[in-house]
Amino acid sequence: MAAPDALYRLEAVRHQYGDRLVLQIDELEIKRGETLCVIGPSGSGKSTLLRLLQFLERPTGGRIVYDGFPAGDGVSLETRRQVTCVFQRPVVLDRSVRANLTYGLRVRRVHHDRREVDRLLEALGLDRLAATPARTLSGGEIQRVAFGRALAFNPKALLLDEPTANLDPRNVRLVEDLIRDRQAQGTTIVLATHQIFQARRLANRTALLLDGQIVEVAPTAILLDAPRDPRTRAFLNGDMIY
Ligand SMILES: Nc1ncnc2c1ncn2[C@@H]1O[C@H](COP(=O)(O)OP(=O)(O)OP(=O)(O)O)[C@@H](O)[C@H]1O
Ligand SMILES: [Mg+2]
Repeated sequence: MAAPDALYRLEAVRHQYGDRLVLQIDELEIKRGETLCVIGPSGSGKSTLLRLLQFLERPTGGRIVYDGFPAGDGVSLETRRQVTCVFQRPVVLDRSVRANLTYGLRVRRVHHDRREVDRLLEALGLDRLAATPARTLSGGEIQRVAFGRALAFNPKALLLDEPTANLDPRNVRLVEDLIRDRQAQGTTIVLATHQIFQARRLANRTALLLDGQIVEVAPTAILLDAPRDPRTRAFLNGDMIY
């Protein structure tokens, strides 16, 4: 049974590509309203985990319980719409920056307030680019458009895959401030990052993923300052060879 405070519960989840097992999580709960950070070396399975949490792919084994219900074949459209992911390499629509933020809402027939979109554009430093075709933007601008598009949906679960990887320090701060706003509103956030300092700044708990397995998951300060597993210590010290 999932604890009532769990939005997600992963049970014996396995994910294979061909005959390669890339994810193997015996048990993991993601609590409502928490920010869970997933750190781990390149190829350890962070993005794969986020794709499963977004129901884009079904795990090849085990199950994911979402909001008390096992997510099998029949994840309803309504459930899918509660979960939004900002991908590591986001794709933008061939439309203006503003239209990229509002298009999904139109498709979902969600009423949106123009001023709210204006506020979001401004908070992301995109207000002057609102009318610009999004495909002409820089990598960091595209990243912020994708982030704004995700926030416009007001998701219950926000999955962020390296959301600040292409950003300069000022824009990292803009994005992190917006993440904090969502935390204050109770959004459940799963954040995959290479940046240990970002985990420290934002996450209630942090998990270390190695070769598709969770080595350790703990309150962020404990995982970063007093890890129990020697592999976590090695990873944090940069001693791990991968
Ligand atoms: N669609 C796919 N088909 C085959 N293999 C895949 C696929 N997607 C991911 N993989 C493999 O699964 C493993 C985990 O990939 P994943 O993208 O989840 O890692 P990651 O932790 O997000 O890495 P990074 O930090 O570089 O983003 C990698 O070895 C990758 O090559
Ligand atoms: Mg990744």
